[in-house]
Amino acid sequence: MCGIVGYVGFEQAAPILLDGLSKLEYRGYDSAGMAIMDEEDKIEVVKAKGRLQVLREMTDSGHAVPGVCGVGHTRWATHGEPSVANAHPHFNKDKSIAVVHNGIIENYQSIRDRLVKKGYEFISQTDTEAVVQLLDYYYQGDPLEAITKVMVRVEGSYALGILFQDHPGEVYAVRKDSPMIVGHSEEGNFIASDVPAILSHTKNVYYIENMEIVKLTKEGIKFYNIDKEEIEKEMVTIDWDAEAAEKGGYEHFMLKEIYEQPKAVRDTISPRIKDDRIEIEELGMTEEEIQKISKIYIVACGSAYHVGITAKYVIEGMARIPVEVDLASEFRYRDPIMEENSLVIIISQSGETADSLAALRAVKEKGIRVLGIVNVVGSSIAREADNVMYTWAGPEIAVATTKAYSTQLASIYLIAILFAKVRNTIDDQAYAGYVEEVKALPDKIQTILGDRERIQWFANKFASSHDMFFIGRGLDYGIGMEGSLKMKEVSYVHSEAYAAGELKHGPISLIEKGILVVGIATQPQLYDKMISNMAEVKARGAYIMGVTNYGNYEMEDTADFTVYVPKTNPYFTTSLAIIPLQLLGYYTTLAKGLDVDKPRNLAKSVTVE
Ligand code: F6R
Repeated sequence: MCGIVGYVGFEQAAPILLDGLSKLEYRGYDSAGMAIMDEEDKIEVVKAKGRLQVLREMTDSGHAVPGVCGVGHTRWATHGEPSVANAHPHFNKDKSIAVVHNGIIENYQSIRDRLVKKGYEFISQTDTEAVVQLLDYYYQGDPLEAITKVMVRVEGSYALGILFQDHPGEVYAVRKDSPMIVGHSEEGNFIASDVPAILSHTKNVYYIENMEIVKLTKEGIKFYNIDKEEIEKEMVTIDWDAEAAEKGGYEHFMLKEIYEQPKAVRDTISPRIKDDRIEIEELGMTEEEIQKISKIYIVACGSAYHVGITAKYVIEGMARIPVEVDLASEFRYRDPIMEENSLVIIISQSGETADSLAALRAVKEKGIRVLGIVNVVGSSIAREADNVMYTWAGPEIAVATTKAYSTQLASIYLIAILFAKVRNTIDDQAYAGYVEEVKALPDKIQTILGDRERIQWFANKFASSHDMFFIGRGLDYGIGMEGSLKMKEVSYVHSEAYAAGELKHGPISLIEKGILVVGIATQPQLYDKMISNMAEVKARGAYIMGVTNYGNYEMEDTADFTVYVPKTNPYFTTSLAIIPLQLLGYYTTLAKGLDVDKPRNLAKSVTVE
């Protein structure tokens, strides 16, 4: 939520900041702004409500604001409505300090009250303005001194980019519980909330830890701890390429990322299957430790939580380990009773989701082992988990996840099969069969993508729907949950997922003529029961879209429109049956003329509670 970028170097800063912000717009797009030090070393702030494009036009693509040093911001509003006054950067009273912020300052009101008593005036409703005014209060010519004083007084989460007018050519940055990376290149030095913002300039980055400070100049980068002592950092080279964060000829990132799924899944599984044997070194667990696991907790948010729902069926079914799945926002406050030999798996694309990170920390305090399944290398969850298994999806830019979700599923399958083998709950033949099926998934996903035009046609037909329902049993219920989320978050069509067996306990009263019900029926042992549930809603006027496996052609007796997916072992069908539902969400949104990559009110990386 909110994206920050900063630059100082040998080039003009504003065009670089605008380019970086365009890669961070997925983090928020309520307003955008930049602070640039011009040639007279005065700080000029430009900001605009709405999308980055407005700021781009206002500044003639950055050329109207000269200067080689600056910070930029794209906002997802938390405190105060989207407006120019609330847009970042924020100034102190004499406009000599400018601040951009990602995070939430929890004690901003008490800071504000204190400063108002001392004669300070606030012009925005943001929590961030408390930081810049507090900096002003403590600033006596030494940026590090003022910054560290502020850091120990503010509570909450923050990544800050700061300019001081009397320190021209210097960008200061600091973080606590909000992401921030530092980049180095020949053309200059950078800060950014996420890698794609600077990928076209450099792949050389440093990760700064909580409560560390960085000072950028065009000549170099210096890191400090809270005691203002200089510290050393190791540079890391990112192996994403810049094109991966571009649309590459696709109309939208979401469609591009849907199409990247075969590759992303292949990249995630291939390095972990050697000679048809699964080896996941990153788990860091011996066979004995795997045998001892008494319970697995899967903790995540949104789509990653839906991966957890699938994981429960797959891990319990194959490896016979009890699995509890929790929403991170609930888990972190419920003080669960955890056995010593439990394993907690935190699933997160960004690795920065505030609730998932807080859940991780709560678990670590109890001394329980935490495994992160994470996409963004070097993110907070990746660094703080005891072990991390990376999903190799590459940068995911569209707000609605597709390829990261698919790679998270693939990681879970590998873990489930490995655990089952080590714990002897499957024999060699079943093991070999599962490995074969997982290896075949990328090609099967590719086949389904070929059905895109039929789904587009169908989506156009139902784009004006007000409500939709997704029903399924067992693993198909989990698929419905993700399909429903994809639909509602991008197309704004109200949609709900129900376990089909629950319909008669209430939701069936919502069914009326013409309403779209998507029935997912890929589980052989539950197939007939699903067909009955679909028939029941059809009898009450619903229009039925069915999703099932090739061969189940009698589905057409009940469904009005059927999408078939290739056969696989039932444990793995989530990876296939979700593809048409991702396309359905995508094309419904397109038919409604909405911005599919940037749905209203959402940001990709939810770094605040
Ligand atoms: C939905 C979506 C979100 C994320 C959720 C968790 O399409 O993308 O529901 O899955 O915000 O984010 P991460 O995986 O970054 O922790």
